[in-house]
Amino acid sequence: MNLLKTLAIAAAGLVLSLGAVHAETQQNAKDISYSFEWPFGHFDREQLQRGYKVYKEVCSNCHSMQYMSFRNLSQKGGPEFTDEQVKALAATFTVKDGPNDQGEMFDRPGLPSDHFPSPFPNEQASRAANNGAYPPDLSLITKFRPGWYGTINQLINGIGGPQYVYSVLTGFVPDEQLPADVLKEKPEGKYFNPYFANGHWIGMPPPLSDDAVTYDDGTKATVDQMARDVSAFLAWTAEPKMEERKRLGFMVMVFLGILALLLYLVKKKVWADVH
Ligand code: HEC
Repeated sequence: MNLLKTLAIAAAGLVLSLGAVHAETQQNAKDISYSFEWPFGHFDREQLQRGYKVYKEVCSNCHSMQYMSFRNLSQKGGPEFTDEQVKALAATFTVKDGPNDQGEMFDRPGLPSDHFPSPFPNEQASRAANNGAYPPDLSLITKFRPGWYGTINQLINGIGGPQYVYSVLTGFVPDEQLPADVLKEKPEGKYFNPYFANGHWIGMPPPLSDDAVTYDDGTKATVDQMARDVSAFLAWTAEPKMEERKRLGFMVMVFLGILALLLYLVKKKVWADVH
């Protein structure tokens, strides 16, 4: 009984502390559903490929993605670009290499084995270019920032990182729609976004507008679509082995099921004469 009580208190504590992490002023994340939710969910390859395109053409102007290398894009369980495609898309980035024989660093086109280069040489340079705000690395953002979208959702569908990213991207309120007393407090170079985890004012200008990219598969590039695609892509960069983990988990469950059945049959046989 004591154990049960302790467990119940611990569970209640967990739920409460999850709630407390969610700052009071921050608006709940929008409850977007993704193909990779639930125990059998998979990433949608085409969505990840579209999401990559949004990262490359829009976000990579300001945000790095330092834990990803180009060749990850062809690995199983991800966007699964072909090796040829990865070579070509790596070459569209410029990477610093060296030193050469003269002791100097030099620029060259990216190779599949390179990590994604940062758009700025250092943090100071990126702040200087962004009104003092620092665009964080996006590789792990969907693990780093939970999006609160209800206790049950949170427990079943994960911490809501992709929902957070989606909500920030689609949650900007244009100045014209702000009440006068809020607009009065607008800091220079900031934009109103009630989903942002660090207060309502974010130092990122709304990065998406309709048709900001042209999708190769003909999907219409609305802000909503691009925000879904890039947030799904960032869910993958934060957990590239998710599909493998789910597959293994499933196999373990099947194995335990068979084992339980065998044990039951053995038990019946062993005790058959006694009963
Ligand atoms: C013009 C530069 C710029 C572009 C382009 C841009 N961002 Fe940002 N982003 C920023 C800056 C600067 C911040 C930090 C804002 C702050 O701290 O106030 C930021 C913050 C964010 C945050 C919130 C991070 C946090 O700490 O919670 C997310 C999520 C984000 N960006 C995602 C994206 C995505 C996805 C794209 C591409 C669709 C993108 N950004 C494009 C500059 C940019």
